[in-house]
Amino acid sequence: MVQDAINRILEGRRSQPHQLIETLQDIQETNGYISKDDMQTVSRELGVPVIDVYGVASFYKAFRLKPTGKIVLTMCQGTACHVRNSRLLLDHAVMELGIKPGEVTADGLFSIERVNCLGACAMGPIVKENMIYHDHMTPAKLRKLIEAIRRREDGGKKNA
Ligand code: FES
Repeated sequence: MVQDAINRILEGRRSQPHQLIETLQDIQETNGYISKDDMQTVSRELGVPVIDVYGVASFYKAFRLKPTGKIVLTMCQGTACHVRNSRLLLDHAVMELGIKPGEVTADGLFSIERVNCLGACAMGPIVKENMIYHDHMTPAKLRKLIEAIRRREDGGKKNA
């Protein structure tokens, strides 16, 4: 993570071990994930042993320790979604994007994550596109969503 960004996050938190979780949340929000270097910096600056920083970062599933794509498709595989064919959706995403959960497409645009519940069971199956929930998903709707994201992101490159 770039030094300026991490300095801004650490401002007012140095030597304050109780700020660990908030600091890790801010790093992930800014950078998309928490790198080993980030963990060492947090350890040094907050005064928390690096093993404890790693312990917290790896304990909470909400923290990512590997880079993700620009767009993270979070595929719910919880029971309520499972009975509505969420496995089919996951297989479809894997096939469409050519990656497995936890991987990133070669262009860095997509990654897939699987989770056990997104808290919207009645509207399942749920697929989350970064922070946006898509409910009652079907393979056809997922294909359209992926196509729309590709068009949108490709258009963004041309306009850049
Ligand atoms: S099981 Fe999918 S949202 Fe709860």
